[in-house]
Amino acid sequence: MSLGDPIPRRDGPLKVAGRATYAADQHPQGIAYAAPVLSTIASGEVLSIDTRPAMQRAGVLTVLTPDNMPALGQLTDLKGGTLGEPRLPLSDRLVEYDGQLVGLVVAESLELANEAAALVQIVYAPGTPRSEIERSSDRFRPKDFYGIAELQTQRGDVDEALSASPFRLQHSYETSVEHHNPMEPHATTALWEGDRLIVYDSTQGVISTRNVLAHFFGLPAGNVRVICPYVGGGFGSKGYVWPRTILAAAAAKATGRPVKLALSRQATFSNNGHRGRTIQTVSLGADQLGRLIAIRHHTLTQTSLAGVHVEPSGIATGMLYACDNVAVSHEVARVTTGSPTAMRAPGEASGVYALECAMDELAEAIGMDPLELRRRNHAVSDPETGKPFSSKHLLACYERGAQAFGWSRRDPRPRSMTANGMLIGWGMASATYPANMRPSSARVEAEPDGRFVVTAATQDLGTGAYTILAQIAAAALGVPVEKVRCELGDSALPEATLSGGSSTSASVGSAVHEAALKLRTQLSAGGAPMAEAHHEPGELEKQYSAHSFGAHFVEVAVDPELAVIRVRRVVSAMDVGRILNHRTAQSQIRGGVVWGIGMALMERTGFDPATGRLVTRNLADYLVPVNPDVPEIQVILIDEPDPHFGPIGARGMGEIGITGLPAVIANAVWHATGVRVRRLPIVIESILHQL
Ligand code: MOS
Repeated sequence: MSLGDPIPRRDGPLKVAGRATYAADQHPQGIAYAAPVLSTIASGEVLSIDTRPAMQRAGVLTVLTPDNMPALGQLTDLKGGTLGEPRLPLSDRLVEYDGQLVGLVVAESLELANEAAALVQIVYAPGTPRSEIERSSDRFRPKDFYGIAELQTQRGDVDEALSASPFRLQHSYETSVEHHNPMEPHATTALWEGDRLIVYDSTQGVISTRNVLAHFFGLPAGNVRVICPYVGGGFGSKGYVWPRTILAAAAAKATGRPVKLALSRQATFSNNGHRGRTIQTVSLGADQLGRLIAIRHHTLTQTSLAGVHVEPSGIATGMLYACDNVAVSHEVARVTTGSPTAMRAPGEASGVYALECAMDELAEAIGMDPLELRRRNHAVSDPETGKPFSSKHLLACYERGAQAFGWSRRDPRPRSMTANGMLIGWGMASATYPANMRPSSARVEAEPDGRFVVTAATQDLGTGAYTILAQIAAAALGVPVEKVRCELGDSALPEATLSGGSSTSASVGSAVHEAALKLRTQLSAGGAPMAEAHHEPGELEKQYSAHSFGAHFVEVAVDPELAVIRVRRVVSAMDVGRILNHRTAQSQIRGGVVWGIGMALMERTGFDPATGRLVTRNLADYLVPVNPDVPEIQVILIDEPDPHFGPIGARGMGEIGITGLPAVIANAVWHATGVRVRRLPIVIESILHQL
């Protein structure tokens, strides 16, 4: 067995058998159940809350409201963690979005808690909701995205270059509000042991959740323990700390009982984040050979009244292609919705969609093959920073993807290909996502029976962390992987990174690799049976620009009478550095592809413009691609270890699969039908009458 072997996920059998314990599966002695009271207006103020009818029910322990909510620490100086909604729950009487937590009932049973929550009487003074970015004049231009990427950038003279371009186009592309909808709804079980707080939370970051709770409850970090052995998906919605986690801990403190707060699917839609809507305007200028002369990419997106998070759609635009004149800008409108947050390749998913659709339109305008257009604009070094790429095999992705797909057989004319009465469309697009690495520690111990245990305060979101971290340790120790097990998902273990930005393998994997090498040396010298290592990005990583790249090729079939779109074939060729496990890697990329299909054809959160209320708050109205009827998804992994990115040369792969995929589908739909749809999701009505 070695690194890369396609061994099955170790947590698979537990999950299939129902033996994996999630946050809501905890039943500490004396547990009480919480139910949220959610606002039924999107904007305004709570004038009064009458909790008496609820409190009169036998078995109701408390109803927390802004009237009796215990004070928590200040919002300032929040270190080592982030609040999803930068505003404390029940801290005031303002209502800033539909479904805001305005109360929390704690009772002896879940049924009683839900029943009592419905008995809480609230009188509102309604304000004026505005859920649509076009209707909000409260706008600003954000400087950067959490200090990671600049959001207003310019190189060269874009106006001049655009007007001098032989070919130029400008189009607007829209993406919808989307909700993450992980299979496991958001849940927290909290209990106090004296001045120690123990929280079972469904989270992408046990350490950051611990830090946020310690801050707000005024405790040393060592007095808070966050436990999360399994996560049923997060997709970004469990990255930051949301109100329910804080409220569960506050309710446990107020009642002196362990409290479980497991949100219903409906309740997850309002305050666990979403991807903000975007309206993006892309201008491209090119010469007769298809070489880009200018790119302008402007994004209008949204955040909440209190929010700071924005969808940074333009962040990949300056890097993806060689071009001397590039301007990227972002404008944000404040709307009366819950706070947006990171969701499945925040920025790249929405932004590469717009850019790669515009590239397809440019190829059409020039009369050039879309793949050839990408090749001609290939960037050898990062055009934005001037740094060399740590490793880049995008040309190999184009070549191998095109060959596997049969791209050379594409007739470039729209509506030219048919099969069995269906209009057939072939499209392609580039994919990209940054390689992220964050400080992480890990410990490897030798046990007396010859086995080894790896521990780190990271978490397995269902992606395979338990499996690949064992593989990394086994390879470094020179032992069979069966001899190594992992314990993760507990903030009491060595501090490791939040699982976001596709960073877990590179971050925690590097620390595990180094700890295992250290232990191996120690053991051969007769030293201590335990080694710990800390890894963080160093001088090596600073010298290079590290990104993953890929190319998607898709075939769609469109019914010429009904305009029903079917994705028939996907080939995705991906350069993500070293492959640690071909099975989990395939699964990660396929997952991204499937979510890309969701973003392209299904996912959309609707708001009633009159009331600002959510109209899609369940999985009947918000469609997710749970059973995509795609006969074939072929993933080609280039598997070239990155020599300039960490000791194992593995870049992240959790998010790249979604990037570019909605564009490929839009481009393929155009090729099938001759209709350009510039809004996601692509709905039948948008092409039906033009067929
Ligand atoms: Mo991912 S959206 O960075 O959790």
